[in-house]
Amino acid sequence: LYYVLDKPRISDRQYDALFQELKSLERDHPELITPASPTQRVGEQPRQGAVKAEHGKPMFSLDNTYSQEELAEFDRRVRDGLPQKARFQYVAEPKLDGASVEIIYQNSVLYRGITRGDGRVGEDVTENIRTIRSLPLTIDESRPLTLRGEVVILSRDLQAINQERSAQGEEPFANPRNAASGSLRLMDPRLAAARPLRVYLYDLVETYYGTHSAMLDAIEKLGLPTHGLHEVCRDLDALFRYIDAFRERKRDLPYETDGVVVKVDELNHREILGYTARFPRWAIAFKYAAEQATTEILEIDCDVGRTGALTPVAITTPVFLSGTTVSRASLHNIDYVNELQLGIGDRVTIEKAGEIIPQVVKVVDVAHREPWKPPARCPACGSRVERSKNEVALRCPNPACPGRLKAAIRYFAHRSAMDIDHLGRALVEQLVDHGFIRDIADVFLLPDKRSELLELERMGEKSVDNLITAIEQARGERSFQQLLTALGIPLVGAVAAGIVAKKYRSLDRLLKVPDDELREALAEMHGIGPKIAESIAGFLADPKQRRVLEKLVELGVRTVDVDPSPTVGMGPLQGLSFCITGVLSRPRREIEGDISRAAGQVHDRVKKGTTYLVAGEKVGASKLNTAKKHGTKVISESELNAMLAGVR
Ligand code: IVH
Repeated sequence: LYYVLDKPRISDRQYDALFQELKSLERDHPELITPASPTQRVGEQPRQGAVKAEHGKPMFSLDNTYSQEELAEFDRRVRDGLPQKARFQYVAEPKLDGASVEIIYQNSVLYRGITRGDGRVGEDVTENIRTIRSLPLTIDESRPLTLRGEVVILSRDLQAINQERSAQGEEPFANPRNAASGSLRLMDPRLAAARPLRVYLYDLVETYYGTHSAMLDAIEKLGLPTHGLHEVCRDLDALFRYIDAFRERKRDLPYETDGVVVKVDELNHREILGYTARFPRWAIAFKYAAEQATTEILEIDCDVGRTGALTPVAITTPVFLSGTTVSRASLHNIDYVNELQLGIGDRVTIEKAGEIIPQVVKVVDVAHREPWKPPARCPACGSRVERSKNEVALRCPNPACPGRLKAAIRYFAHRSAMDIDHLGRALVEQLVDHGFIRDIADVFLLPDKRSELLELERMGEKSVDNLITAIEQARGERSFQQLLTALGIPLVGAVAAGIVAKKYRSLDRLLKVPDDELREALAEMHGIGPKIAESIAGFLADPKQRRVLEKLVELGVRTVDVDPSPTVGMGPLQGLSFCITGVLSRPRREIEGDISRAAGQVHDRVKKGTTYLVAGEKVGASKLNTAKKHGTKVISESELNAMLAGVR
């Protein structure tokens, strides 16, 4: 409900409480743990190197087209390849930009995940695939399913990951595709679990359904994650209409797409059309040209980051680009500006990277002027900027710089941190300039200043109320991990914050830990290196920072944390008894072991009170008769598997 349909029926808090309850049940009764338990998504053991796995059927790539004409040619080839009177239709669907995988279910249970690799042999990434929360560990279908789809990272999640990487001094991922494929192949499933991977399935190798569209509908019904955006198109015109509409629609999707895939719907027609060495003849990708616009540079400004780093930004004549009016475009860093030899008045091409942040990609027309020179002073506070040897960035060294404060507030309020909606760039600007906010804790003073806030620019009753509600939520409903992330401690992103939060559970408690004890504890934490440890300890020892933290506590900032409530437990087969007979897919002893681990009883023959007879192949008639006599229900091996997995 939460990950696939986006319609949770319980709150995160209730979910966490249930999860903790399950964990404590399993702690007390380890014999009840089944591989399909949600607690078992994340394995403890690193993968054993890159283990190869062969695909049952090769995974093909797709040919690309970039224009209506090319697509019309594809349509002609399809028509020529099919018998004259053949009636057929197309399906159009998004081309997701991630890493392709094969995911296999056997006996209703998620069994295996394999990367595409070279199309014939990939890498076994089952352990990492299991960490994808949108992917059910068990399904209500006992036939084998060999599914294919795309593992992606949502655009907003990528932003947070990249923030984390920058905080750790690591290179951010250039695009969601690299992020997805890098994460999928991580050796430690615990690290993979920290990456919010999603998967969207778009293919089933088994031909249970006559058409692609029927297959997509069927797997969606099973609760498997699909993109849900396919449409049947009867002819070329309908395809063009889909492609046109999708140009707009894709902007609102939470993940990146790089075009539309067109497929022949009927599986029997696909067989007739066949494959070239690399591509199917029944499918093709339509790719949109990157949307670009030409505009003029009016000014080059520098944005001040919370660490003081200056990032050059081009202020341009407003132009319309992929759905929004753009008047600022990123220039990455000073070296990039120098490389382009950029100057005021130049005409440049801008492009949206990942459809979000526009950036300058090239100069088309040079104005007669001097190339731009980086500022010698911080544009926000006038301090002399510094450039350290190994860095591309220029820095403002002034810790009290209002530009740095503004960036720190934006970081504090960011989705991946305290998640305070309505505290956008323009408002932060005003709040700092008018002296409402002098440090991050001051955000929590704002609800008491309703009438003053109403006097700010573009702040009506409604916006002020929205802001206050958002701040009140942040005051009482964020996790300690979010709060720790939000502080912007150098090198500490969400992952490191999570590790520390788990140990100390609240800011109040963390502040009471003596310095030497803290340093000792940090040194022993798995996942906290010496540099991060030093940064955290140094931050907490700094009297100025401590004052801000104490102020947060005084202002009533309370984080939520779920207490594991120990309760007495049962296995999924508690109170049930089973007798096994016939030829099964694995040794009987193994199955019996699974039943008792799930708290079920094993009877060696059907007797009065035996709940189920698990019948494999070639079951004798006498067994079935005895079962009938005692009212014992006869079930298949896959029904048993589903019960073992906790599905009834
Ligand atoms: S169909 C033989 N459908 O694009 C059929 N592929 O450029 C091949 N991709 O390797 C796959 N979205 O990773 C298909 N809706 C979609 C897709 C899709 C993304 C990827 C896939 C494939 C690559 C080919």
